[in-house]
Amino acid sequence: MEKIILSGMRPTGPLHIGHLFGALKNWKRLQDEGYVCYYMIADYHALSTEYLNPKNIKNYVEEMAIDFLSSGLDPEKSTIFIQSLVPEHTELHLIFSMFVPIPYLERNPVYKEQVEEIKDRDLHTYGFLGYPVLQAADILIYKANYVPIGIDQMPHLELTREIARKFNYLYGETFPEPEAILTETPKIPGIDGRKMSKSYNNAIYLKDSPEIIKEKVSNMFTDPKRIYRKDPGHPETCPVFLYQKIFNVNRIEEIENDCKNAIIGCTDCKRELGEKLAVYLEDIRIKREKLEKDKKKLMEYLIEGSKKARNVAQKTIIEVKKKVGVFYEC
Ligand code: TRP
Ligand code: SF4
Repeated sequence: MEKIILSGMRPTGPLHIGHLFGALKNWKRLQDEGYVCYYMIADYHALSTEYLNPKNIKNYVEEMAIDFLSSGLDPEKSTIFIQSLVPEHTELHLIFSMFVPIPYLERNPVYKEQVEEIKDRDLHTYGFLGYPVLQAADILIYKANYVPIGIDQMPHLELTREIARKFNYLYGETFPEPEAILTETPKIPGIDGRKMSKSYNNAIYLKDSPEIIKEKVSNMFTDPKRIYRKDPGHPETCPVFLYQKIFNVNRIEEIENDCKNAIIGCTDCKRELGEKLAVYLEDIRIKREKLEKDKKKLMEYLIEGSKKARNVAQKTIIEVKKKVGVFYEC
């Protein structure tokens, strides 16, 4: 039996190299290994936090599609689609909401943390509480077997599994219990050494020009103990060194040695890294420029993908409606 994969991202901003290593490379690998892959731009999930100011979502959807395709997702191989163009997700979400106990949602650690942390908007809403129920519908409507996600999303997958089990118990065997694919990926810190995030203003974006990349790298934090050029460095505590390990592997031993013995200065080290990183991202940038020039074609890919997804989603929703007793032949 073919194995089905689904994953998605919320279009709330441009994608950075953390997304590339944390998700997109993995998604591409799964696509190339021949899984049946659904990759979704979760615009309704974006709306659950951006509802006060939703005017950017559409632009981010387009940008996200460009980032997906330029980093190697192939609309010929994977079904790449927009969540809101497959309204069956919301129908399944509604049906699930009939039997999902509110306490399951209220004790979800992701929910608790976000309501606590995000202070610039009110997240005490029905939609935000139900965020993981919509996510369960995203996954189960394609009867996905595997879901490549970050560890932070595990509570949502656990809830998805519970929902699948409960539906199967109440209405008969329908959904598989999807499993997470948690691949070890290199953790790339932001240029200030903290977690890379749009809100920290410390990210290197896939759309950054070579000049911007070099500029950002030249401003990176380095070993705080290395104050003067003659001081020996401690590469193991330097975010630049972490990057060198990924983008400049061939020279890593020399750099480590030259840093520890104060042979290379941080400015030169960062200049070398900036150049390497710009080259590394060149392929993506070239593809990006092409896609940006033909937005019509881009939308066609997304509409085509959404139609394909919808065909499958409609089959599931009919099966579900029959099972719960709200299907009418018409
Ligand atoms: N909640 C996910 C995130 O914030 C995005 C998402 C929405 C998702 N629906 C999904 C991920 C379904 C995997 C499967 O990253
Ligand atoms: Fe970091 Fe490079 Fe400076 Fe060493 S030389 S501390 S690795 S920036």
